[in-house]
Amino acid sequence: MAEQEFFHCIRDIRMSPIVMISEEVRKKGVEFKAQTGKDIIPFQRGEIDFATPEYIRRAAQEAMDGGKTKYPKSGGEKRFKEAVLNKLERYNKVTGLDEDNIIATYGGQEALELTFQLFHGKKVGGFAPTWSCVLENFVPYADVEFIEVPLEGDFSVDYDRLAEVLKEVSLFYLNTPQNPTGKLFTREEVSKIAEMCRENNVYLLSDEAYERIVFDGKEHFSPLSLEYDNIISAFTLSKTYSMTGWRVGYLATRNKEITKLIRLGNYTQTAGVATFLQYAAAEAVDNIEEDAKAVGGMVAEFDKRRNALYEGFKQIPGINFDKPDGAFYLFPNFTEHIPAALKGEERNTYIYKKLLDEGVAAVYGSCFGGHFVDNVRFSFSGVTIDQINEGVERMKMIFK
Ligand SMILES: Cc1ncc(COP(=O)(O)O)c(C=O)c1O
Repeated sequence: MAEQEFFHCIRDIRMSPIVMISEEVRKKGVEFKAQTGKDIIPFQRGEIDFATPEYIRRAAQEAMDGGKTKYPKSGGEKRFKEAVLNKLERYNKVTGLDEDNIIATYGGQEALELTFQLFHGKKVGGFAPTWSCVLENFVPYADVEFIEVPLEGDFSVDYDRLAEVLKEVSLFYLNTPQNPTGKLFTREEVSKIAEMCRENNVYLLSDEAYERIVFDGKEHFSPLSLEYDNIISAFTLSKTYSMTGWRVGYLATRNKEITKLIRLGNYTQTAGVATFLQYAAAEAVDNIEEDAKAVGGMVAEFDKRRNALYEGFKQIPGINFDKPDGAFYLFPNFTEHIPAALKGEERNTYIYKKLLDEGVAAVYGSCFGGHFVDNVRFSFSGVTIDQINEGVERMKMIFK
């Protein structure tokens, strides 16, 4: 059988370099421990170290005990959609939607993947750096051509370049707060980007996975609150409630032609999100009191970690970085520490290797596209303050 003729979209999917990094870190960890007696500091992880809040776990158990174990309703359970509609109105200031504007999905990932599938074979734009899964998974799977619009060095938007790219593409991917930079796009930026997409007849895919992880009293702005029908928003409970393994998210759009299609795709690939999980997820977003306690507590802890890492980086000469307003990543630039003559893969992994040799694991910038290859992503989602301080001490020894 000429297998290469089949499954080409799956064959083109590359294993995320972050998965390879995790594997390398695991192996290196054993060696490092044997040599030094110490552990590697895991700044490479996008995983959260908190347990899912108790009220959500209890709701899942109650739903199971209450018989919510049958096939889910196509597109999502009524209880889930009602809770989501309330949350969209309360938190995202999105009004005027009904149940037909929402589809329950397996995490944000399925909402994003199905949307990419709608644009199969077309050109799609997005800001660089870009979340690695978009580049490694959705782009080959949907066979789209991805055109990067690099952010400026300070992560501001180059509107001239954006305007050029919007003339070419059918869909534009926007992630705010952003992985890997931690950039929270302002209300003005999001509104302007959405408006430019609309003027160019481009759909805007808004990935709001980190919507609730924002700092310093800043506010996340959802483009779906604008009354445009070219906006498709992907949400997830993964990050907000430390529910990464539950795989619950949803897609929302004013455009019911889109939800009709997404519903078909969703039904075809998974036949819907497990019924009892939808009931638990409804409780997660609906129980305002418990939500405030749980999410507030987690974000306060992330904030402490963010400050510790930020203050730590200030003590390291020759790196440039911004304090993130959202998500749980810092993405400093290390150009001053990379030999100018170094090129290609060697350059891309130079800092990463130096760090790993001294027991600091992070993700190199080329995992997030062809720009910002001298940057390195540090996640503070799964490290304690003590680990952060230890990591900073190790980095101070490397970059004197
Ligand atoms: C930018 C971004 N979007 C979406 C997701 C999807 O998360 P999930 O599929 O767990 O909801 C992630 C997960 O890491 C992410 O970083």
